[in-house]
Amino acid sequence: MLVSKSSIAKEAIEVAPRGNLNARLVYFNTLYTDSPAKTIHIVREAVREADNVSEKITPIVRIRDLGESSIDFEVKYWLEDYARYNDTDALVRQRIWYAFRRAGIRFAFPTRTLHVERKAQMEAAQMDGRGFIDRLSAVDIFAPLSVDETARLAQASASHIFAPGETVIRAGDQGSSMFVVHNGRVAVQVTDNGRPRTVAVLNEGDFFGEMALFTGEPRTANVVALEETEVLEIGYQAMKHLFATNPDLVESLSHTIAERRAGLSARPEDKEAVAEESAGLFNSIRRFFGLD
Ligand code: CMP
Repeated sequence: MLVSKSSIAKEAIEVAPRGNLNARLVYFNTLYTDSPAKTIHIVREAVREADNVSEKITPIVRIRDLGESSIDFEVKYWLEDYARYNDTDALVRQRIWYAFRRAGIRFAFPTRTLHVERKAQMEAAQMDGRGFIDRLSAVDIFAPLSVDETARLAQASASHIFAPGETVIRAGDQGSSMFVVHNGRVAVQVTDNGRPRTVAVLNEGDFFGEMALFTGEPRTANVVALEETEVLEIGYQAMKHLFATNPDLVESLSHTIAERRAGLSARPEDKEAVAEESAGLFNSIRRFFGLD
């Protein structure tokens, strides 16, 4: 932009960024083996959720260069409060790291051969499942399972890690899996008059996401990581398998769901209503999983 000296002296110069918001660029890269389309989608979704990233304009993710050892990307995002751009850039990088980790996308850097070998060893160590089996056997609803069943459940579950403040489950979404908190803590939040209200904080060994999984209804609340949190995701098929050999499981789940539904509404202490709802849920879960 060229501005003559005479205008600077005489007139106020107004810089009008798009939608009155200022943009930032954050750079990152991936290995050539990772799909650019997948990377673009994953990063866009991760970044648009970060605090201080404007909801008014969707972040743009694009390839800057096909580098020597990496695909080089940039993400352009718009800030609500420009003064906090350093912190927000940092948060955006952090969100990209966590999103990559969950999606199995890898950053590229010169020592990648060494890094890939180390990671393969680490994954092998993690895959022994021992931490997962211990965790699942301590979950109250899974207490009736045999050692073999718990081991199979651990094998069938997938671990995901979330950054502090990241949304694990969004109210209104469809969902066909539930989660056990392996490490960390999450808050269950509903929106009241446009503001988030925390109805429960769930710790290691607690589970969530069972309502949509067992009823087929949309997610009832947002579940947000309060710190770095690793969850174990358990899908429909794994649970269906367990129901066949553990009919009591349906009963304890019906009870938990009924209690939690009451906790979401304004009548948390109404024991009779919870018992009634629990009985109704018992039948609908059995139908939903084809157990009749
Ligand atoms: P789901 O509806 O699938 O997704 C949101 C989850 O939040 C829900 O399953 C429950 O696991 C959890 N949840 C909802 N209400 C409560 C509550 N009152 N106490 C604890 N957890 C809850």
